[in-house]
Amino acid sequence: MNTTADQPVIEVADLYRTFGKRAVINHLSLEIYRGETLVIMGGSGCGKSTLLRHIIGVMKPTSGSIKIFGEETTAMNERELTGIRRRFGMLFQSGALLASLTVGENVALPLIEHTKLTPDEIEQVVKDKLEIVGLKGFERMKPAEISGGMKKRVGLARALALDPELLFSDEPTSGLDPIMTAVVDRLTLDLTRKRGMTAVVVTHDMTSAFRIATRMIMLGRGSIIAQGTPDEIRNCDNPEVQQFINGEADGPVPLNISQDEDHPHIAPRPLVTARGRFHNKTP
Ligand SMILES: Nc1ncnc2c1ncn2[C@@H]1O[C@H](COP(=O)(O)OP(=O)(O)OP(=O)(O)O)[C@@H](O)[C@H]1O
Ligand SMILES: [Mg+2]
Repeated sequence: MNTTADQPVIEVADLYRTFGKRAVINHLSLEIYRGETLVIMGGSGCGKSTLLRHIIGVMKPTSGSIKIFGEETTAMNERELTGIRRRFGMLFQSGALLASLTVGENVALPLIEHTKLTPDEIEQVVKDKLEIVGLKGFERMKPAEISGGMKKRVGLARALALDPELLFSDEPTSGLDPIMTAVVDRLTLDLTRKRGMTAVVVTHDMTSAFRIATRMIMLGRGSIIAQGTPDEIRNCDNPEVQQFINGEADGPVPLNISQDEDHPHIAPRPLVTARGRFHNKTP
């Protein structure tokens, strides 16, 4: 099923997820519309990555509903989810590159999995995507040979490999210098404002957030504590929001020490052994 302009691309309704006794997502509802750039903010450990993992279907909720492109995904199996995943890209917080593959092979993974492109065509797309993230010519390097910020950009190139209509980015600019942050932000703006892509971006970087957002939400304790346009958020009188966007140490936000590392959720097996000349290249 396809969505029309005024129908949400994503509908999250009463989402609830517990780990042990703790509700990390606490009856959260959210709609995301085509062409929006929704920035999700909130303190470390408040559930931003967990929310994204539920939306992309790698985690199942305790209860609640998630629809993407009008289809309920919470009860889908892996095979059904594959069809939906073809239409969106995901940049994981950790980058989630496969260490045994080259940069080029990592970017090629979604193309090998979801398209019937020839190896030459795949190589061309990989080149193009690496170029737009400022990594032209890095195809043959291994993840261990590039910097953290470069890994992040390779992850972004991979997320964009299929020209997705929907992009999820978890901290796309963390570890990037201010110039590269501006480059990635401009890329997001190009893809959203000029080409109609919808973006859901988790970020702690307030400069970047205010540069790209059309709408912002702030999460706290697994719920939405504020939402609005960038101007509304800037002028919002909620002290938690003000503390967060102004980066103040003292305020109502409790010190929260919980943080979880990202897991790749990408199975190395079938993709690595798939056809294509990328498989046997050495860096
Ligand atoms: N698989 C899991 N098992 C148990 N607890 C988990 C799991 N995944 C996440 N959590 C917990 O859920 C909470 C939210 O984690 P999450 O990674 O979503 O935070 P976050 O808002 O993305 O934080 P950060 O800004 O540091 O990335 C944390 O307390 C974390 O420990
Ligand atoms: Mg996170």
